[in-house]
Amino acid sequence: MPNPRLMLATGNAGKVREIKAILGDAGWDILTPREFGIVLAPVAEGGRSYTENAISKAVAAAAASGLPALADDSGIEVDALDGQPGVTSARYGGPSMRDDHDRNALILRRLEGVPMPRRTARFRAVVALVFPGNRVFTREGVVEGHVALAPQGANGFGYDPIFLRPDGRSTAELTPDEKDRISHRGIALAALRPLLEELRAQ
Ligand code: IMP
Repeated sequence: MPNPRLMLATGNAGKVREIKAILGDAGWDILTPREFGIVLAPVAEGGRSYTENAISKAVAAAAASGLPALADDSGIEVDALDGQPGVTSARYGGPSMRDDHDRNALILRRLEGVPMPRRTARFRAVVALVFPGNRVFTREGVVEGHVALAPQGANGFGYDPIFLRPDGRSTAELTPDEKDRISHRGIALAALRPLLEELRAQ
């Protein structure tokens, strides 16, 4: 029996690589919208929570493709910035930010003078699996760390260069395999795996 198909509700290359690496052997053919030949209309990430945003993205992708769809919504929460950027991580700093590099620089500027013990932060991810007809499952993953004093490392994406693990390396200094094993997305996806394995039989 061929594997059933699963639509990814994201075009973010960093997330696509991680999701395919982590769930590649869970018994589903994981397709990006581009691989399936559709373009997903951008979903307004106006929800107040990662869960709301992840479900909206997966519902839209399931409706557009007619396939079960998997979405992720994630972000970094910096305690000294009252939990910001949080759900607004992708657009933190507004339209004047050109890229992730600018957003990292903005966080570092806003934390100038804040000593390491007070630079606590976490990455959080919620993944939503939605079946056409809108049966919904969600799982969450969290990793704790600190905001670095300066960017470190060239792997990963987004805020990886400024997020320090307990061993002092940033997540941009981990190999892709290492990051997949310990990341917030890795934890959320690993929690989803038994469900995917069970549901593929239905
Ligand atoms: P969204 O989930 O598409 O709303 O985007 C979340 C944003 O959080 C991304 O654009 C990244 O900037 C950031 N982010 C999420 N996961 C990671 C990660 O694993 N490493 C670094 N940054 C991340």
